[in-house]
Amino acid sequence: MAKRVAILLSGGGSNMVALARSMEGDHPARPCLVMANSAQAGGLKRAADMGIETDFVDHRPFEGDRAAFEDALHARLMRAAPDIVCLAGFMRVLTEGFVARWQGRMINIHPSLLPKYRGLNTHARALEAGDGEAGCTVHEVTPALDDGPILGQARVPVLQGDTPQDLAARVLAAEHALYPAVLRRFAAGDRRPVWMPEAD
Ligand code: GAR
Repeated sequence: MAKRVAILLSGGGSNMVALARSMEGDHPARPCLVMANSAQAGGLKRAADMGIETDFVDHRPFEGDRAAFEDALHARLMRAAPDIVCLAGFMRVLTEGFVARWQGRMINIHPSLLPKYRGLNTHARALEAGDGEAGCTVHEVTPALDDGPILGQARVPVLQGDTPQDLAARVLAAEHALYPAVLRRFAAGDRRPVWMPEAD
């Protein structure tokens, strides 16, 4: 039976689209739910247009009580009964309690070559450091922020004169290739990392 995949997002959802499009044919998984922490997240409409069930749990009424927000999120997720949860631009920090409930089944994409640049503003930080390359990482989610076993990395060059926006666009294109490749492997029970470009 195909694995059920829930995708959590906060923004436009271009990674969600790449993941959802990839789950067809002989792919071992199918999307079961796309969920956001705001009704306004652009990714919700894109998912609905693709015929995927969508929902949201607004984090704002829960301000100051992260655990209560996560309980609501967890309850909604449980109704969809996913085997795998993909974080795809989900911009809420998750507590240890929530992560523990999904550990081993929850993966995330982060726009840097981890362990470099955990957190925000990854592209500006890579440019400021004078890095010659940048990229993105898919990893298993563990309680520490942007940590956890690496399931894949894609590298792109940093070009002369790049702005953070230029670099973000180049990395985002790499994300759209990396995340589906990792999910396909992960859903098949294979946790060997995907390297893009492939190691020699
Ligand atoms: C992506 O670049 C993703 O790596 C990043 O948010 C963007 C979402 O874009 N995630 C993080 O920064 C998580 N810490 P999308 O909504 O178009 O997929």
